[in-house]
Amino acid sequence: MQPIGILMKEHRIIERMLVRVEEAYNIAKLTGNISTDFLMTEIDFFQTFADKNHHAKEEDILFRALGQKRMQIEHRRIMSTLLEDHKITRLIVWALGAAREKYLRGSEGAMVELLATMERLLAIYPKHIETEDKHFFYPSMEYFNEMEKEEMLEQFSEYNKSIDYEKYVQIAEHFEHPIAIHSMSGR
Ligand SMILES: [Fe+2]
Ligand SMILES: [Fe+2]
Repeated sequence: MQPIGILMKEHRIIERMLVRVEEAYNIAKLTGNISTDFLMTEIDFFQTFADKNHHAKEEDILFRALGQKRMQIEHRRIMSTLLEDHKITRLIVWALGAAREKYLRGSEGAMVELLATMERLLAIYPKHIETEDKHFFYPSMEYFNEMEKEEMLEQFSEYNKSIDYEKYVQIAEHFEHPIAIHSMSGR
């Protein structure tokens, strides 16, 4: 497998989690309620699986290695937009945590803030993933020889040991509607 194969597989996992987020978003919009447990799981997923693991593999391993190559200007430009996106997603997830706290306290406007923050998350990730999958990952592999790609794969698997990887795969795959339905019964 190519190193980008692992990253692209993770994109599919993140996309499945985004479907869960969208379901919860739609129900919250309809009912005015959302499960704070779901929000906590969502925040943890995006902080741990998407950022601490997936973004970290991109930034600390792939992008860093690319930084040592003579990259085409266009690829360098895309890489800096990807880094910027990662920063923005961190802020969005942080804002989601803050809005969840407000919602728990029953603050006025908390639901509006929650919905707006979820919308931002739902908007940024698909575009980001598409840029990586369709415009960046394949050309990025052209800069490395087979040995370098092997090393990268090993580094990726080392990173994956630093979190409970399977737990997050399960969350994305099996977090079904009941969570959203629970939200109808309140917090
Ligand atoms: Fe990324
Ligand atoms: Fe990615």
